[in-house]
Amino acid sequence: MTIDVQFKRIRHIAAGILSLAALTLSGTTAAQQAKLKVGLMLPYTGTYAALGTAITNGFKQYVGESGGKLGGREVEYFVVDDESDPAKATENTNKLIKRDQVDVLVGTVHSGVAMAMAKVARETGTLMIDPNAGADELTGALCAANIFRTSFSNWQPGYAMGQYMAKKHRRAVTLTWKYAAGLQMVDGFKEAFEKGGGKVVKELTLPFPNVEFQPFLTEIASLKPDAVYVFFAGGGAAKFVKDYAAAGLKNSIPLYGPGFLTDGTLEAMGDAGAGLLTTLHYADGLTSAKDRSFRLNYAKTYKLQPDVYAVQGYDAAQLLGAGLAAVKGDVGRKPELYKAIENARIDSPRGPFVLSRAHNPVQDFYLRKAEGRDNKVLEVSIKGLADPARGCKM
Ligand code: BEZ
Repeated sequence: MTIDVQFKRIRHIAAGILSLAALTLSGTTAAQQAKLKVGLMLPYTGTYAALGTAITNGFKQYVGESGGKLGGREVEYFVVDDESDPAKATENTNKLIKRDQVDVLVGTVHSGVAMAMAKVARETGTLMIDPNAGADELTGALCAANIFRTSFSNWQPGYAMGQYMAKKHRRAVTLTWKYAAGLQMVDGFKEAFEKGGGKVVKELTLPFPNVEFQPFLTEIASLKPDAVYVFFAGGGAAKFVKDYAAAGLKNSIPLYGPGFLTDGTLEAMGDAGAGLLTTLHYADGLTSAKDRSFRLNYAKTYKLQPDVYAVQGYDAAQLLGAGLAAVKGDVGRKPELYKAIENARIDSPRGPFVLSRAHNPVQDFYLRKAEGRDNKVLEVSIKGLADPARGCKM
């Protein structure tokens, strides 16, 4: 082979390498400029519909405040109404992952639906951010590198109320919908209440989302406990509190619960809700600049007052934004993305929080009192409460 032919060959190979590099580079650029696909899997119908809407509002508010982008990428939404139905959860999650090819799953409200979502997220390695559902398993036995929560574990608000009630009462009856959220919020309550010297004398349940409360009110009246602790949320919570007052129990047997009982529901309860004491990681009347600006923007945008669900949605977008900023929007850089999310310090309207090693917020719990349409903060009932993360092997 002459030197001339050899030189031509080398030039040919070099040109091939260059065009391959150019192709790869332009591919990367296109991927970086593509919209970030966010799958919102939330309830928009049924007893938790208002909760799903508030989470969506909060999420979109943060994205709006960030110029419509997270990690430099414009956000495109893919929305599924999960109807708070665990039987449809796997199919709904797969629709978002396989059909819509979302980059991140944001959902949901109902603990049973969230557990099915988390299983699919684990199997497919899809990033999932839970903006409400408290299923202990998500940051317990089902914990995973790609699953994060911006809300609470069911254990947390129950534990906070158990600790408070043990200082005031001896014998309590509990009542809840019979599924993971209610059962685990009762477990957390019982753990702290009995540790503090109280006794749960009866645990009553009814199927989700039934609202036929009359037989339970009759039983509570005949058991005559010192206090009643319940988990209900959304439309069911408003009906329960009204029924409790109408049965004449409000003035004879004090009623308590995690703050889901009165968040976003006080208006529908009218006078029946007045004075109720609850524990939650958010309250009305916090004085931080962050909460003030969040509430102002929310009211301006949606012509509504925000609640805990809106805060959790807002913080889901903040957490995702913190992770994406560290990888310049490249969701393919998973180890760096997850590390940045894990290490984020979120400046939340509820107060700043960090995530535990199992990816659950370590946060303050407030004692609140219902006054008018507000859950007014009375005090911090437990500072920096961390979920025990039982069964998490990460
Ligand atoms: C849950 O299912 O985890 C849940 C639903 C509504 C409010 C709080 C928790």
